[in-house]
Amino acid sequence: MDPIELRLLPDTALIEPAGELSIGGCLVSSLAAQFGTPLFIYDEQHIRNRCREAGESFGAGNVVYATKAFLCTEMAKLVHEEGLMLDVATGGELFVALSAGVPANRCVLHGNNKSSDELHYAIREGVHHIVVDSFDELERLEHVAGFLGAQVSVQIRVTPGVHAHTHEFVSTGQDDSKFGFNMGNGDAMRAVETLRRSSRLNLIGLHFHIGSNVLDIEHLGKAIDVMVSFFAPLGLSDLTVGGGLGVAYVASEHAPTMEQWGTVVRRATASLPKDVVVRVEPGRAIVASSAITVYTVGTQKDIPGVRSYVAVDGGMSDNPRPMMYGSGYEAFMPTLPSALRPRNVRVVGKHCESGDIVIEEAQVPAELEVGSLLATPVTGAYGYSMASNYNMVTKPAVVFVKDGQARVVRRRETYEDLLTLNPN
Ligand code: LLP
Repeated sequence: MDPIELRLLPDTALIEPAGELSIGGCLVSSLAAQFGTPLFIYDEQHIRNRCREAGESFGAGNVVYATKAFLCTEMAKLVHEEGLMLDVATGGELFVALSAGVPANRCVLHGNNKSSDELHYAIREGVHHIVVDSFDELERLEHVAGFLGAQVSVQIRVTPGVHAHTHEFVSTGQDDSKFGFNMGNGDAMRAVETLRRSSRLNLIGLHFHIGSNVLDIEHLGKAIDVMVSFFAPLGLSDLTVGGGLGVAYVASEHAPTMEQWGTVVRRATASLPKDVVVRVEPGRAIVASSAITVYTVGTQKDIPGVRSYVAVDGGMSDNPRPMMYGSGYEAFMPTLPSALRPRNVRVVGKHCESGDIVIEEAQVPAELEVGSLLATPVTGAYGYSMASNYNMVTKPAVVFVKDGQARVVRRRETYEDLLTLNPN
């Protein structure tokens, strides 16, 4: 029933005297008119604020932005400008980061199944280090490094057997993961020993990532304790504790701040020697709340006694998270951001699937009608980056706004773009 809470919106979101919402000094309705819908609007200042907070909490050089959350060349430039490193999980992510002018030695390569080509590319370009995920990859990496005559810095990705959402942190029973070397069955230690015998691969440290969108950072802290007890006796210099700091998507959720996360990580790693570099890899916490998606309502349908549907001009192709994870979102009218939201509706997309749901149970203003703009906040992470062309729906435009200026960082796809991969 309540109006949308401003805390779910980007930092510079403002209700203008005339009652409409602006972000970065730009009226959302004007942006929609200029660039069309669906439209991703990113608040550049918000992203910079989160990067700076992360830098203040961990040291900017120790923060590695997880590019999978959202990446384009302008985003890569921005986080690089803010002093962060970039976590790339594929050759494609590395390519985009390098194309943005980010030096390779500010990039870290991840991935549970890196190809020889990807390893070759990363080593040739000179990434800072590679996070090794399996014995097969170790062999492959040794081979590629030998072929190139290169010395390569590596971290080992360790699966600690703890899960961010469980309470049983000392248990090493839950090792069922495709990622990393299991700590519990001795694989992680065997990988350490293998690397110590290598003349090409230089083991600098360990990497852990125990989960994503964690709202209880005490859980993260306890999981880090488990990692630290494995890491400490090895005498290594570099420990990455992963990403995972959650964000509030809906009014009932509250997320810890970057600073609170920093306090927990510092406390959990306090026993390590002072010269150990402790890195974090936030993705979502940097970028999720920096953006909103603006849609136009195309149809409404009331089924008395059943429910009301509101269909927008996007859906699962620009935000697959509700379908994939059952994730919740809020909806509001950017032209009436202070409006009460008494109507309960299901917001759906335009795809040929009943499961194409944007919000299962949304509260929207009574004023919502066909042609209205409807926005979902907190869509900056894992939205555009997981977008698809299902039903040959073209990907939305993405704009960065700041100080009253909007710039397109990803143009809207056209029908012609749908043919660009055709041969000849
Ligand atoms: N580091 C590693 C090694 C990761 O695998 C991930 C995320 C991160 C850092 C960043 O995690 P974050 O701080 O964003 O939680 N598509 C899912 C999230 C997948 C996360 C995969 N790995 C979603 O939309 O919720």
